[in-house]
Amino acid sequence: MAKVNLKNIDKSFGETQVLHGVDLDIRDGEFLVLVGPSGCGKSTLLRIIAGLEDTTGGDVYIGETQVTDVEPKNRDIAMVFQNYALYPHMNVYDNMGFGLKLKKTPTEEIKQRVEAAAEILGITDYLKRRPKELSGGQRQRVAVGRAIVRNPAVFLFDEPLSNLDAKLRVQMRTEIKKLHAKLKTTMIYVTHDQVEAMTMGDRIVVMKDGYLMQADAPLELYNRPANKFVASFIGSPAMNFLDVKVDVKDGIQFSNDQLHLKYPGSDHTGLQKYAGQEVTLGVRPEHLTLSAAGEGIEAQLEVSELMGSESYLYTTVGEAQIVARVQGAHQHKTGDQLNFRPQFEHLHFFDLESGARID
Ligand SMILES: Nc1ncnc2c1ncn2[C@@H]1O[C@H](COP(=O)(O)OP(=O)(O)OP(=O)(O)O)[C@@H](O)[C@H]1O
Ligand SMILES: [Mg+2]
Repeated sequence: MAKVNLKNIDKSFGETQVLHGVDLDIRDGEFLVLVGPSGCGKSTLLRIIAGLEDTTGGDVYIGETQVTDVEPKNRDIAMVFQNYALYPHMNVYDNMGFGLKLKKTPTEEIKQRVEAAAEILGITDYLKRRPKELSGGQRQRVAVGRAIVRNPAVFLFDEPLSNLDAKLRVQMRTEIKKLHAKLKTTMIYVTHDQVEAMTMGDRIVVMKDGYLMQADAPLELYNRPANKFVASFIGSPAMNFLDVKVDVKDGIQFSNDQLHLKYPGSDHTGLQKYAGQEVTLGVRPEHLTLSAAGEGIEAQLEVSELMGSESYLYTTVGEAQIVARVQGAHQHKTGDQLNFRPQFEHLHFFDLESGARID
């Protein structure tokens, strides 16, 4: 077990800088998820921690040791890749034990460790099979098993579930969480799937274009996104945004061509500073409630998706697209006018220019 500290990490490939001054302290035993859109630098950052990629600037610490120039094999980490990278000609047992064999670990100890890991992962019956004789999920377990037998200080996962079908992904996601609860080893897990991030992470780091946007507990990201990017990335369907003008004459009020809302209470210190200016108002689909005509936000229905217990109503409000997630099955027709009342305690506000959260 070990903490991992990243200090001001820069990375360029030729002229292109793909990581910008990344500072991150990962606690000993933490399950940390790195999430962000394709190309934002997640794998690069993970590979830098593993030592598979050099840094252009900054330092990596594992435990108390500065490892920036230490070889991957001497970093006490184990990495699980998206494609599993199993040896096709070796059976499961040999695949799992191979790393230990290279380190000249005694045969009896290899046997004990492989059998223990196989037991944890429920693959004891497959130890004699080759990878091609296994399902995707079983191969995935072998790849995790190969990491476990090394008993590393830190596990690194790079999208290990992305080759699995939806059902198996959900199952393996739970298994990896259980594994973490059992081993209590530091795990750093890369995904571009925000649901995976929300359900697995003790803490989530949202990245964009090589910058860290926010590092926080899942619910904190959901409840208090630091900026418009994080707000739109976490949550499905995504948060709705409307540009509105702020008036503070008689309490706080918001308006644009389609809506006029009165904010209960006038003690929003952040908004006071935006009097007479525009801000971006954010509201999640689950925080809109259908209301009486003439009340709240006026919207035109485009499509409704009936999910059974709830409905997703896709609407337009002027130029903006607004999705509402309401309880029950709602039979509305395209073109119907709907009114929504936002739950005021769940409104978010962002600076129109920078996208930064206004508190
Ligand atoms: N060896 C390389 N040479 C040049 N550019 C690279 C190299 N590896 C990665 N990049 C670039 O660095 C950026 C970050 O890549 P990276 O693989 O870290 O993204 P990612 O967040 O893991 O994306 P994905 O979700 O698609 O896996 C990308 O723009 C990519 O094109
Ligand atoms: Mg990647």
